[in-house]
Order: sequence, then C-alpha cells, then structure tokens
Amino acid sequence: YVIGVDLGTSAVKTLLVDQNGIVCASATEAYELLQPKSGYNEQNPEDWVKQTALSIRKLLSSSGVTADQVEGISFSGQMHGLVLLDANLKPLRNAILWNDTRTTKQCREIEAKLGDRLLDIARNRALEGFTLPKILWVKENEPELYEKAKLFLLPKDYVRLAMTGEVAMDISDAAGTLMLDVEKGQWSGDICGAFGISMELCPPVVQSVDQTGTVTEAFAKEAGLSASTKVFAGGADNACGAFGSGIIQDGAYMCSIGTSGVVLGFEQNANTDYRGKVHFFNHSRPDTFYAMGVTLAAGYSLSWFAQTFAPDKSFDQLLGNVGNIPAGSNGLLFTPYLVGERTPHADSVIRGSFIGMDATHTLDHFGRAVMEGITFSLNESVELFREGGKKVEQIVSIGGGAKNATWLQMQADVFGAEVLRLKSEQGPGMGAAMIAAVGCGWFSDFSECADKFVEVDEVISPRQDQVKVYQELFAIYKQVYSQTKPLDD
Ligand code: XUL
Repeated sequence: YVIGVDLGTSAVKTLLVDQNGIVCASATEAYELLQPKSGYNEQNPEDWVKQTALSIRKLLSSSGVTADQVEGISFSGQMHGLVLLDANLKPLRNAILWNDTRTTKQCREIEAKLGDRLLDIARNRALEGFTLPKILWVKENEPELYEKAKLFLLPKDYVRLAMTGEVAMDISDAAGTLMLDVEKGQWSGDICGAFGISMELCPPVVQSVDQTGTVTEAFAKEAGLSASTKVFAGGADNACGAFGSGIIQDGAYMCSIGTSGVVLGFEQNANTDYRGKVHFFNHSRPDTFYAMGVTLAAGYSLSWFAQTFAPDKSFDQLLGNVGNIPAGSNGLLFTPYLVGERTPHADSVIRGSFIGMDATHTLDHFGRAVMEGITFSLNESVELFREGGKKVEQIVSIGGGAKNATWLQMQADVFGAEVLRLKSEQGPGMGAAMIAAVGCGWFSDFSECADKFVEVDEVISPRQDQVKVYQELFAIYKQVYSQTKPLDD
C-alpha cells in the first residue's frame, strides 16, 4: 500500500491505495483558516502536522491495514503558501496562504523592477497569491522577524519536514514561488539578488518522485506508522491533480471545476512561451511542464447563484431543467467575475454581469446562463492554448463539472473538443499516492502508473450544430469584459 496526503486549504485528506490503484480507505481532518484582517488568509503550520498525523492514524485504523504494510507516503500540497523558519526550523509566524491578497504593492514592485525578465525566468506574472511577494511583505512589514528567518518552505514541505526531519522542496511547488528559473529548474540568483533575498533562504530543490527520508520515530508514534516508511517529495496540488487524471503526455488537457476552475495542459518542454497569460509551472513528471489558466469563481458562481436566488432548492432541483433550455439560454449571458478574474485578465477589480434579460426568462434560464458563463471563462484558457499552437482535442473533466451530464455536454460543445469522464476520480491525493507508487518502484515510470491507475469511463463528443452556436456566443462573451470594465470606477 501507499498513502497519498492531500494538504488542502480547508482540510488534509489522506488516501490508502493498493497496487491496483484501488482506494481502500480515506480520512479527512479539517483545520482553521485564520483571517485576522480583510484579505489576510493564514494557517498555523503545526495544525497541518497534527491533523495529518491524526488523519493517517484514523486512515490506518479504519482500513485494517497494518503500519508495516505501508511502503511509501507522498504529498500533494496547496501551492504558494509561505512558511518562514528560524535556525531551529521552527515557524516564525503563521503561514501566509495562496489566497491571501495583502501583497498588491509588492507585486507592482516586482513587475516594475524585473519587467520582462520575470516572464523570461519565472514564466509567470507577479500575482498576490505567489510566494515571492509574501516574502517581500514580511521583509518590509516584520523586519525583526525576517532577520531571524533562515529558510522558507511551502505548506506540504513543512509537514514532510515534521514527518522525516529532512528539508526539501519539490520542483513543481518551487515553480509557484516566482523565484525559480523554471526552464533550468534552479533557484534564480537574478530574482533573489534583485530583492536582496539570500539564496540560503531557499531549500534544496528535488523531483516530486525523489525520496526525502523516512518517517521518524516520533512521527511514527503519533500517526501509527512504521518508522522505516519511505517518504517521497510529492508535488503542487495542480501537478498532482494532473498526474491523478493522466495528464502526463502531449495533447493531454484537464478541466477541473471546483470553487475555482482550472484548465491545465501538459507541456513536454518549456518552448511554448505564453508570456504570462497562463501560468507555466514544472510538472511532477520529471523534466516536463504544464500550463494552466484559472477561473476564480467557477463552482463558486453556481453556489452564489443557488444561495442568492434559490436558497430552498438543492443543486439537483436547481439544475434539473437546464438541459431543456436551448444553448445560449435564449439570449441571457453571464460573466462569472464575482471576485475578479485571473485568466486571461488578471483583474481583481472587474465584477460579473447578467446581460440580455427578457421577461420570459425563468430560473432555469438563469441557471443555464451561469453554467455557460463559467464554461466560456474556462474556454478563454482553452483558446490561449490554441493560440500557443496547441491542438486541444480531448479534455478530461473532473470536479463538480464532471458530475452533471448537461454540463459535460456543454463543455464538449463550448470547448469544441471531446470531453472525457473518469471512472473513479480522487483528485490530487491520488496523484500523491501515484508519486509514492512510482517512488516505491511499483512502476518503471509515470505513464505505466497512469495506464494502470487512471481509467476513462465515458467520452462525450461535441455536437457540431451546438459548437457553432457557442462560437458565436463566445465572441459576444469576450466583448463583455471591456464593455463592463468602466463600471469599476
Ligand atoms: C494555483 C493556486 C491554487 C492553489 C490551491 O496557482 O493558487 O490552485 O494551489 O491550493
């Protein structure tokens, strides 16, 4: 057996997986999100460690599997969060998370100072969520604490340190710091130097599948594990989600609709330069990359809509009839910018809209328009990949968008691509377990593992008449951004 630890933003989820890729048990333990000020999102790293140990203990006891039957453990982690450690490798403050937005000023400074060099080296724009602006924020606002900082880690790396006593950061997570030379896979002296950050603050970079020690006696006792168990570095949640959905070769794409939505594409090398329009990170599969666009309010738009306009209905009731409404919702159009938009606009100020309301529109039209607006937003990422010269012909759909037949067909029709639904979908925790499986030598490489563990259940083909309807509507959707932008002021 292997264990995949998915260190998320609201909880840690652990999966116990056997050699056939079957999930034998799972356990989830939540932790607190600290919001001391508006826009601040923090967590106590010790909570992650405590809850991971508890979750593994419960996982094993519910499964009947004994500790010595567990061959390896690996991780998927929430990305970008800053964990600053002192000389004793103890956290100097709470971690500042990916969804914390206090660093707008630092982002402007980074872009002003590095300009195009940032895109050449780090391959991403400076966004509030990334790690470098957080380090600069601490340097500026908590200088006495920054003085004591000896090392920084990302969330899952801190839990791994507590588990093994070893310091490491895997390349897929390091790519989200904005301090890594993504193509070379090394910390960038240029970027660190530009902001007076000592390279000694940066941990050693390893591959996701590299072994980074074994479980210590102390952690083994707390989690009910065996002290000899091998631990592998693991990856960023998006890299693990991609591996867990089989996105590890050219032409493979994934659309994941959760609270936010992601369209992610595999990149064999770093040759395609999207100039920061989509994120570009190192993958968990060694020497490969992925590009990724984000819709901030995907599932969130739908839950906002449900809570605001139909609080008494379940999701199934609310969406039960949307399949009977024609494509285009009889002229009703929605843009999902409820909390701003990341791809392609990188605009935290823009807000959403309903356009084209008619006296004959019902709640069902609005429900369909919301789903269409979210899908159009995701299609802007698909379009960026196509503009980058990629053929996007098949997209694996996961998350909430894969649970509804109407939405799956809508994705195929809007994306103009085949949409694939998986048989069993376990999210990034499965990718983490698969990294452990490859690390343990169960498979010779990532492909062999994905061939065995990831199974497609259904292929949904685009309907050409609907594709045409949506192409026309998408052209209108894209104009709404610039037309509603003046409302910001
Ligand atoms: C990616 C991002 C999120 C976090 C969520 O850039 O900010 O997907 O990884 O955990």
